[in-house]
Amino acid sequence: MSTPLLTVAGVRSGYGDLIVLHDVDITVHDGEIVAILGSNGAGKSTLLKSIVGLLRTRSGHIDGAGVRLTGLPTEAIARAGIILVPEGRQLFSTMSVMENLLLGGHLNRRQHRNDSQLDQVFELFPILKERRRQVAGSMSGGQQQMLAIGRALMARPKVLLLDEPSLGLAPIVLGQVFEALATLRTLGVTTLLVEQNAMMTLAFADRAYVLERGRVVVEGKAADLANDPRIQQAYLGLGSHTA
Ligand SMILES: Nc1ncnc2c1ncn2[C@@H]1O[C@H](COP(=O)(O)OP(=O)(O)OP(=O)(O)O)[C@@H](O)[C@H]1O
Ligand SMILES: [Mg+2]
Repeated sequence: MSTPLLTVAGVRSGYGDLIVLHDVDITVHDGEIVAILGSNGAGKSTLLKSIVGLLRTRSGHIDGAGVRLTGLPTEAIARAGIILVPEGRQLFSTMSVMENLLLGGHLNRRQHRNDSQLDQVFELFPILKERRRQVAGSMSGGQQQMLAIGRALMARPKVLLLDEPSLGLAPIVLGQVFEALATLRTLGVTTLLVEQNAMMTLAFADRAYVLERGRVVVEGKAADLANDPRIQQAYLGLGSHTA
């Protein structure tokens, strides 16, 4: 397989005295959609925060898009093309859809690049084109999630990091968001996706890792994990569940 676009190697990370991630190894190759699964508090968001430099790693290293990310400030990591859609979306809710998208593109210096990227985002999420003049905060949760992903795509990510895009969405919009995520593959966007909604995620991811108490306890092809009865019972909320 090609050289990884993102490598997390032996990473320990946490908050103050609390070490959350222990010796985590993860790789994402060019064009792959890789999922991180795990229950509440497993360390999924901590992993993404460590990758984008919101949290300093205690040991190990992280490389992305050919750059050693460890120790770099968050803006430098974003400029290297490692773009996070955070938990809870963090849109500019009083600004329009269009303004939010253009802010996402501010890392691109040349206007014509923004125009072509905007066309691609509108193709992926036609609803954003329709609603481009609407105030972001007045849209539904699903539409806001599409906007958050669209805004990240405006930065032309080399690696897109998504933190629980399905969180709090009604089942009907959930399907739409997952369909859009599956379309990311056709755009060739390399994606690391954190999700609790394991079955829907394994249906379109290439590979997945399961985090448990800050450690990778299972990794493999998504299709294999989806069919593994142990995984189904322990991590995917099927059968006897004790969480
Ligand atoms: N800012 C913080 N300060 C201190 N501890 C934190 C902080 N954020 C998270 N933690 C702790 O780190 C651990 C991992 O949290 P994290 O948010 O990474 O989990 P998660 O897998 O993303 O869970 P969820 O599915 O609920 O989003 C938890 O024990 C949590 O309480
Ligand atoms: Mg989280």
